[in-house]
Amino acid sequence: MSEKIGAPHHMRILNYGSLNIDFVYQVPHIVRPGETIHGGDFKTYAGGKGANQSVALARAGAEIWHAGKIGEDGLWLKDLLEQSGVHAEFIHKYAGPTGHTFIQVSPEGQNAIVLYSGGNYKNSVQEVDATLSCFAAGDYLVLQNEINLVPELMEKAHAKGLRICLNPAPFTENIKSWPLEKLELLIVNEIEAESLAGVVGNYETILDVLVEKYPGVRVLLTLGAEGSIYGRNAERIRVQIPALGLPVVDTTAAGDTYFGYFLKTMISGKSIHQAMVTASLAAYLTVSRPGAMSSIPYAAEVESMALEHAE
Ligand code: RIB
Repeated sequence: MSEKIGAPHHMRILNYGSLNIDFVYQVPHIVRPGETIHGGDFKTYAGGKGANQSVALARAGAEIWHAGKIGEDGLWLKDLLEQSGVHAEFIHKYAGPTGHTFIQVSPEGQNAIVLYSGGNYKNSVQEVDATLSCFAAGDYLVLQNEINLVPELMEKAHAKGLRICLNPAPFTENIKSWPLEKLELLIVNEIEAESLAGVVGNYETILDVLVEKYPGVRVLLTLGAEGSIYGRNAERIRVQIPALGLPVVDTTAAGDTYFGYFLKTMISGKSIHQAMVTASLAAYLTVSRPGAMSSIPYAAEVESMALEHAE
């Protein structure tokens, strides 16, 4: 392993994140409090924000290592990551269940998710230290909020000079106490952005608050069909590509796809604007397909979509 990543130094990406088994039910509407409804079609998918983002990065063409924890029941997730080109030697096994979700998808493609952490909360400090010791200053660390030890990972990685990219999802209040000023990139949706900024209002104002709060940090706010806005210090970029006529089948993993494609494109030296356009196209494709990991497109599909879109 250390040979594989120790050799000629080029920039590497480590994603310390969740791996989930998603149990997905098609429902006539998202269930209301006190209500019981019949789930229609039921399928089991590979997911987890962490694993989805690693797959998006790999399918976008990045060299990516995923770290995390699964039970015996989740070994197939590791296989799937490897099949997508993700390095999986930092995915450990323990004697307990893999994280899982219960996901409802409505006919409009909206979802509602219940998350059970399982192995995602069993990462140890020793494993974190051993994993980080294989990476060096200038490498990237990708994090979400579905595992334990996230603030510890941020502190340790920052001390080593890693560039930290955080998607604080799903949002919990304790995130506000994390060392967010140490980030390279903060990527948030509307809800996460409002919660972190502590204000409600138009998205430009919320972005201004976050950018001021975290000087030098790249802040990217994703707005679903309304596109995305980027800010760092005085810089602002807004991208909204027109609807592409694709059906909205399942929005699960749209944000994960956006993040993976944005980061890979940015790291490749393309402009932030280009990274936002590529990420938006990739996310459109994800939304038009069912499932989480399985719905994430490969770079070739995104490129042909970009060509069609340019015509
Ligand atoms: O972002 C989508 C993911 O969030 C799903 O795959 C599910 O596992 C939840 O963690």
